[in-house]
Amino acid sequence: MMAITAAETDHRKGFETLDREVEVDGLEVTGEIPPWLAGTLVRTGPARFETAQGSLRHWFDGMAMLHRFSFGEDGVSYGSRYLRSRAYRALEETGSLSYREFATDPCRSLFSRFTSLFSPGITDNGNVNVSKIGDTLVALTETPMPVAFDPETLDTLGVEFDRAPGHHSTAHPHHDTARGELLNHVLKFSARSSHRLYAQSGPRSRRTIASVPTRHPGYLHSFGMTERYAIFVVGPFVADPLRLALSGRPFVEAFEWRPELGTKVWAIDRHTGELRAEMETDALFAFHHVNAYERGDDEVVVDLCAYEDASIVESLYLERLRAGAPVPPALPVRLTLDLERGSVQRRLLAEAMFELPRVNYGRVNGRPYRYAWGGGGGAGGWIDAVVKLDVENGEVSTWERPGCYPGEPVFVPEPGAEREDAGVLLSVVLDAERGTSLLAILDARTLEELARADVPHHIPFSFHGQYLS
Ligand SMILES: [Fe+2]
Repeated sequence: MMAITAAETDHRKGFETLDREVEVDGLEVTGEIPPWLAGTLVRTGPARFETAQGSLRHWFDGMAMLHRFSFGEDGVSYGSRYLRSRAYRALEETGSLSYREFATDPCRSLFSRFTSLFSPGITDNGNVNVSKIGDTLVALTETPMPVAFDPETLDTLGVEFDRAPGHHSTAHPHHDTARGELLNHVLKFSARSSHRLYAQSGPRSRRTIASVPTRHPGYLHSFGMTERYAIFVVGPFVADPLRLALSGRPFVEAFEWRPELGTKVWAIDRHTGELRAEMETDALFAFHHVNAYERGDDEVVVDLCAYEDASIVESLYLERLRAGAPVPPALPVRLTLDLERGSVQRRLLAEAMFELPRVNYGRVNGRPYRYAWGGGGGAGGWIDAVVKLDVENGEVSTWERPGCYPGEPVFVPEPGAEREDAGVLLSVVLDAERGTSLLAILDARTLEELARADVPHHIPFSFHGQYLS
């Protein structure tokens, strides 16, 4: 396959295809890795952007590659493999796209386009996130089609899952550790569309908790979870289900930005399924929730990375990214929900770009918290810093290096530590001047660089990953 030629010295190399799978036992490490760090970071992201017909259209369309960084007494090992999803295997066999991706469609008749939306013909190209359903590790995209894989070999396993009750899900499920379940949202398109909350504890165990009907089904990439509620914040980037099925345009192009509809906020009691409150605020667009928690019986705090509108989706078309066009920044925004009155207050937590957020999940998700980490900076039009945000006082600190473009910083807590921010951040960084990537290991409290492990090639920008201890 052919790699697109992009500038060698800026972030655009992050959108070039990686045309090999590798297994490297000992990466070259500079600095000191904390001895308690002995698990594996597994990430997924788009890594192949071409078919026989040419380039895929959107960053989110790229074929998923899994990446593994394992820490041990012998140092850091790295492995990469393309996810052998049905979508990937079909592309390998035919040279063409056979499944409907985010913004690129296979060439098909009207009839098969219809069936490809409302049948299992939807893609399973798990390029967005990895998670665990029961004991099974899965790669996820935004369809209800998880693909199981082995975290050591990165081999794709042929596990069949019960289908979620809808068409468009999120790759950001929440863990309900008390019940041993994964909670997720799924949007069902129909003449009476609905946003649904469901729980899953294994490949064959799934239950629908709630279904909220909507006249304007909106795109949702993640949601908030408190001890009692699931919070859906749905901006006015909405689709007409009939147009989605019949317009002949790719999935995301059936959505339009309609700010006059405002942003809907639903608080669903995740234990009973009751819709506790339905609220509305001005139009905003967000991919990522940072955290959410309750304050008393009637108040919920929801933090998210918010855009003024949905133009970020257009700015992530590969043609624009490869031309170096800047992307609009997400800012950290707090919504305070009054469940009794049904009102929403909104304020900026900091005047700083903040995307791909992570928190000390096991400790603070759904609870009051103070720290979040993410990608930021962005003066050059792309994420070029790791940012630590103190959500109490809006203080921001950064880690940055010339010509370096970090990805999502995954927080790993230091075992037994008292402070919420005691631990490390693991971020895959593109060093554009060298044309290769590295894994940066930062002190999560100070953002001091503790160590780095050099990868012998570039790793295309990936979205999300998880640390397995
Ligand atoms: Fe995401």
